Amino acid sequence: MLLAIETSCDETAVTLYASEAAARLDSSKILVELISSQVDLHKPYGGVVPEIAARNHIATLPMLITKAFLQSGTTVKDVSMVAATRGPGLKGCLLVGLGMAKAIAFSRKVPLLALNHLEGHLFACEFMEGHLRPKLPMLALLVSGGHTMLVSVPKFREYKVLASTRDDAAGEAFDKIASILGLPYPGGPALSREATSGNANSFSLPVGLRENNTSFSFSGLKTAVARTVAKLGGLEGVREKGLVADLAASSERAIVEALKVKVAAALKSLRPQSFLLTGGVAANLVLREELAQVCADQDVRFSVPPFKWCTDNATMMAALAASIIKHNPNLYGSEWRAAEHPGYLGPGVAIEVGAVARWPLEEISGV
Ligand code: KG4
Ligand code: ZN
Repeated sequence: MLLAIETSCDETAVTLYASEAAARLDSSKILVELISSQVDLHKPYGGVVPEIAARNHIATLPMLITKAFLQSGTTVKDVSMVAATRGPGLKGCLLVGLGMAKAIAFSRKVPLLALNHLEGHLFACEFMEGHLRPKLPMLALLVSGGHTMLVSVPKFREYKVLASTRDDAAGEAFDKIASILGLPYPGGPALSREATSGNANSFSLPVGLRENNTSFSFSGLKTAVARTVAKLGGLEGVREKGLVADLAASSERAIVEALKVKVAAALKSLRPQSFLLTGGVAANLVLREELAQVCADQDVRFSVPPFKWCTDNATMMAALAASIIKHNPNLYGSEWRAAEHPGYLGPGVAIEVGAVARWPLEEISGV
């Protein structure tokens, strides 16, 4: 049984998976998946406060693991492998999950996989039915609160970042524009809800770096929305004129458009087997529909996780761990050291892997 732990930001998440080395990933073997969200704790601050997040992980994680064992009728003695997020993320938060994972792996003398959170998002569809999983080579758009990147994946665990953001991430743009429009935290879901009753053509907002194939930019859009609000007499003026929904819809359209043009261009030049939309912003319905259409037009398979696996969760980390083991059945139970195989610690091996705030996909060197 694999125990997967994710604590890179503001969700504490635990998944137990009855895995078998070399076996096909099978969602019916997910024994339990739990998420404790800290959204309400950070709401008063309008964003994640790292110290509050880390302290809350400390209080929540042991309870969540205990609950996972109770709900699945298992105990810590059933754990034969541990996987945890090592980075990138908030260092204090990562340390909590990784520390717990090390303690369990060390005391039970079982292997530990210390994994990359971004790579986890790229595995978020692996527990879906076969025809919904991405096929390699694939192009992936990873859009979350911290990252916006277009990634080419020619082979298993080989990543080339084709485009990333110069300033704000797509999720950050949703969150900041929502805040300018007086919508509640977290902004992404609130803004897209508001947008459903607005007209996306009512305001003409800038689509950042439309012609540039390697960089996204969303800060200009944020400034344009702030200027428009000021011109309309501030938030009060916008509300009085009943234009909040129209501005939300127009902003959403501009963000989606900026993502769409780059995806369409990259699909055309790469001609991959699949396209994967993943990360928290992949929960956005307009984005899902528009990108599904781009893929249909170009005859490329479109994969997107169900909502629960778009935002941060431990099941995507379990999927990554199980995929690594499936590709390397001999890894399990071997005595390979972290130095030889970064991110992997064999049973009983001294625990020498640390949490990392920064860990680009291209620096992943794995098996
Ligand atoms: O992947 P995630 O849970 O955390 C990070 O790793 O960053 O992504 C969170 C981001 C937030 O910025 C949130 O506003 C955004 O995803 N988000 C959405 C929607 N649901 C979540 N953005 C737009 N539309 C949504 N429906
Ligand atoms: Zn994430």
